[in-house]
Amino acid sequence: MASWTAGYVADLDYTQGFYRELTPALLAFVAMAHAQAAPDVSGPLTYCELGCGRGFSANLLAAANPHIAFHANDFNPGHIVGARRLARAAGSDNIQFYDHSFAEFLDAPEVPDFDIIALHGIYSWISAENRAVIIEFLRRKLRPGGLVYVSYNCQPGWSLAAPLRHLMALHGQARGGPTAGRIEPALDFIQSLVDVNAGYFRGQPGLVDRLAKLKGQPRNYLAHEYMNDDWTLFYHSDVAHEMSEAKLTFLASAHVLDSIDNITVTPEQGRLLAGIESSAFRETVRDYMIGQQFRRDVFVRGPLLQTSGDVAAAWDQMRVALTSAREDVPEKITVAQGDVALDPAVYGPILDALETGLKTCREVMDAVGTPPGGAAHLRQVIAILIGAGHVQPCLPSPPDETRVRRAEAFNAAVLNQARAHGELQALVSPVIGGGVSLNRFQQLFLLALREGERDPSAFVGAILEAQGQSLVKDGQPLVTSAENQAELKIRYEQFVARDLPVLERLGIA
Ligand SMILES: C[S@@+](CC[C@H](N)C(=O)[O-])C[C@H]1O[C@@H](n2cnc3c(N)ncnc32)[C@H](O)[C@@H]1O
Repeated sequence: MASWTAGYVADLDYTQGFYRELTPALLAFVAMAHAQAAPDVSGPLTYCELGCGRGFSANLLAAANPHIAFHANDFNPGHIVGARRLARAAGSDNIQFYDHSFAEFLDAPEVPDFDIIALHGIYSWISAENRAVIIEFLRRKLRPGGLVYVSYNCQPGWSLAAPLRHLMALHGQARGGPTAGRIEPALDFIQSLVDVNAGYFRGQPGLVDRLAKLKGQPRNYLAHEYMNDDWTLFYHSDVAHEMSEAKLTFLASAHVLDSIDNITVTPEQGRLLAGIESSAFRETVRDYMIGQQFRRDVFVRGPLLQTSGDVAAAWDQMRVALTSAREDVPEKITVAQGDVALDPAVYGPILDALETGLKTCREVMDAVGTPPGGAAHLRQVIAILIGAGHVQPCLPSPPDETRVRRAEAFNAAVLNQARAHGELQALVSPVIGGGVSLNRFQQLFLLALREGERDPSAFVGAILEAQGQSLVKDGQPLVTSAENQAELKIRYEQFVARDLPVLERLGIA
């Protein structure tokens, strides 16, 4: 093992995901929804991502927010080479990638102070020493009023499965050698424990299911999540305490539904939580209510409570976009307490209004009339739709020429890669100032339209055929070229009818 890795998996690159919780406009929304002053995301802010992995989220957000200066580090130089290459292909001039460790980044003179610092998938996977470096970084580098986004694995949600992860890592360490070669044998070994009816698994179908799901996960995800030396499960109260050393105060969850008690917990649970005064204790108890295993916390340096008038004005002015096809918004969502119905009489008119185009919340209210529960009810409905991933808060102003050009360039770079693989699963919306998920088929259909292809499904079919790939329908691979072509035609029609209007609304198509 090379000495710079400090026990962290570095011989297998991480996956390239886009995590919308990192989006500046979403973080500002979280602050606003909890009556807190937030950095103005339409202004020239500085944004830092610590441990950016292969840099897809940071690159996407830089393209979506050309007015913000982004800085991102990851000590794996392979990650940084790929991240810089995408930045170049997208013509991004507002992002710097560094192959510094956290300790080197802390002392790098060229690194400025920040308004937003985000770390996703880092805090549980590094040593206590590195966590202390990060706390010092937050203490030194975050401006007053700045926001921190930090995600981590937590208890009590991991209490059952933590020994499974322990065994994966332990088996890998005992075996030694490259990480890629450790994963399959570890999974097989754990399966053999299930097969001999080991007490830990006995009577725990949830654990056996979890093992089955692990077998289907990308190997580079498993390597980073399950095989590196350091792995700490936190209680929220521990993290809040560590963050307080950097003068940070907990604000809310960036996983918006987690902070909406009406949705996430039952009325009795909500009453119990409401009776707890200490924020750290209340949030930790909330995790017991919902069996939380992964938290996405937002902290602020210097909370500043807004007046109710300011908060109402901010809600009125907030622009929101429907990011799903209208028919894809379900009538119920599933949360920890079970299924929660989204009453069509309340949600329907709001979704209809948003389907016609982006609106401020005030414009939504003007279109649908004030609901029986007043403006507060409408705001909660919007927050729930944001939490469920169907609506997204937008940047305060419409896209200017630079935002449109930068989004175009980034999307062209991603669509170009879709010819070869489907690893990059999101494009930039210049309207939102963030990303929208698109699978490889959707990307290739969009590419065909952009390139003026007469027969988009034949265009996509030719790309897949050249790579020896075929489609899967009802769990079965389609064998002949004609079968594949017929299925692609159906998918293209669906894309045009359902996805294209959404992409047009979001300034992507
Ligand atoms: C689980 S990955 C998460 C990557 C990225 N944030 C994401 O969510 O896609 C953790 C990342 O932290 C990086 N890392 C681990 N220890 C580090 C250190 N001491 N300094 C800098 N980066 C580190 C790893 O190289 C890896 O890319």
